[in-house]
Amino acid sequence: MAGRHTQARFEFSLRKNMTPHDIADMFNDFAEDFEEVYSSIGWRPYEVVGDFMAKIIPEENRSKLKVLDVGAGTGLLGNKLKNHGFTHVDALDPAEKMLNVAKRRKIYQRYLCAFMNKDRNDAIETGGRITFTVPTKLINNSDNLRDRLLPLIDQLAEEGVWKVTSVALGDGELSFTDGPGTLFSLKVLVSEKKF
Ligand SMILES: C[S@@+](CC[C@H](N)C(=O)[O-])C[C@H]1O[C@@H](n2cnc3c(N)ncnc32)[C@H](O)[C@@H]1O
Repeated sequence: MAGRHTQARFEFSLRKNMTPHDIADMFNDFAEDFEEVYSSIGWRPYEVVGDFMAKIIPEENRSKLKVLDVGAGTGLLGNKLKNHGFTHVDALDPAEKMLNVAKRRKIYQRYLCAFMNKDRNDAIETGGRITFTVPTKLINNSDNLRDRLLPLIDQLAEEGVWKVTSVALGDGELSFTDGPGTLFSLKVLVSEKKF
């Protein structure tokens, strides 16, 4: 049914009691309107991540790298990366209708309709660099970030699993409404055996 969980489109706290499938269904429900709906809040994390990748990866290396866009949706980041010269970009997203929009535009090489969770996905190699942004207010206010993700990032950094780069983003860099953001980029230093 269209319109379920409408408020949770923007409010992470409302997703607390939703299952992963509920969240995927929510994005399926408005896949065709996603870009219009999100552009109304000035959505641009994909710009920030795409530009960061271009800043740290020299142009001559971009076509040799394999990139996996996790939570790729309709392909905004994939398109940005393509424009920066990254040619091997795959998409992973559990919402098939979101991926269908990206497919029509021929943005990615592979389309993996799956959740990112603790289960191994044999279609994916591990290692490399993991880059993502979060609204900074969520670091303090969300149990998942404050109590689970951030301590895990620190703990694995101490164990030498990855080296963390964290960049403070200004107000409005992620969207009109999210406030200042933080970009994390985790360079994995060990082989996957360690996991
Ligand atoms: C806000 S959209 C962002 C889409 C795209 N990255 C962009 O910047 O426009 C979040 C996407 O994450 C996907 N998603 C939700 N749970 C996920 C999970 N467990 N693993 C991977 N993707 C997930 C949703 O289906 C949705 O397409």
